[in-house]
Amino acid sequence: MPASKKDTQATQKRYDRIAPLYDLMEGLVERSRYGKWREMLWRRVEGEQILEIGVGTGKNFPYYPAEVEITAVDFSARMLQRARRKAERETVDVRLEQMDVQHLEFADGTFDTVVATFVFCSVPDPVLGLQEIERVCKPGGKVILLEHVLSDNQFLAWWMNLVSPLVSGTMGPHINRRTVENVGRSGLVVERVTDLAFGIFKLIEARKQSSPA
Ligand SMILES: C[S@@+](CC[C@H](N)C(=O)[O-])C[C@H]1O[C@@H](n2cnc3c(N)ncnc32)[C@H](O)[C@@H]1O
Repeated sequence: MPASKKDTQATQKRYDRIAPLYDLMEGLVERSRYGKWREMLWRRVEGEQILEIGVGTGKNFPYYPAEVEITAVDFSARMLQRARRKAERETVDVRLEQMDVQHLEFADGTFDTVVATFVFCSVPDPVLGLQEIERVCKPGGKVILLEHVLSDNQFLAWWMNLVSPLVSGTMGPHINRRTVENVGRSGLVVERVTDLAFGIFKLIEARKQSSPA
């Protein structure tokens, strides 16, 4: 079922609300784990035209490669405002725009690589968002996602399904998403999935087919 406008607005509002606390909330795990995973992801981008989806407060800025053109979008005005301030403060060369991944305002085949970190747990209609990514990616282009997904462990999956509505209602993310499967359903071809921790945190590398299937 397509995500309603109401779902999208509610998620957007939740991120607007948590924007001032976001960096603080994630501080510890950022230093212990996320930082090295982000570095790993950004080492794998290809080409010159790069799109980052759900830039948030700009946590990937320190890992942006030199000599590429980066456009970064987010649908939360408050998250984006923080990213904008950080980009100015740290002189990061990035074009920032407010945009919903479910309706990207870019032409077909614009980007060599599209990146998202911890975003598809929140997108109301993840398959629609991934289809939009596939559309704006150049034929043969790359998509790299760092995501947490539903565990394969039966007991853990039961618990994640149980608490997911509470987590998404307060903070935004659904902790029971099957993002690897959703990437496959969008028309992208999953090339590699690297398990980073607990069978939950994954680096997903996919590609748009060079010519229509
Ligand atoms: C958990 S935060 C992650 C932020 C950042 N990528 C990071 O790694 O710290 C999720 C971000 O995705 C954004 N987001 C969620 N759904 C979105 C959508 N449909 N379109 C654009 N941005 C979205 C949120 O506003 C938020 O900034």
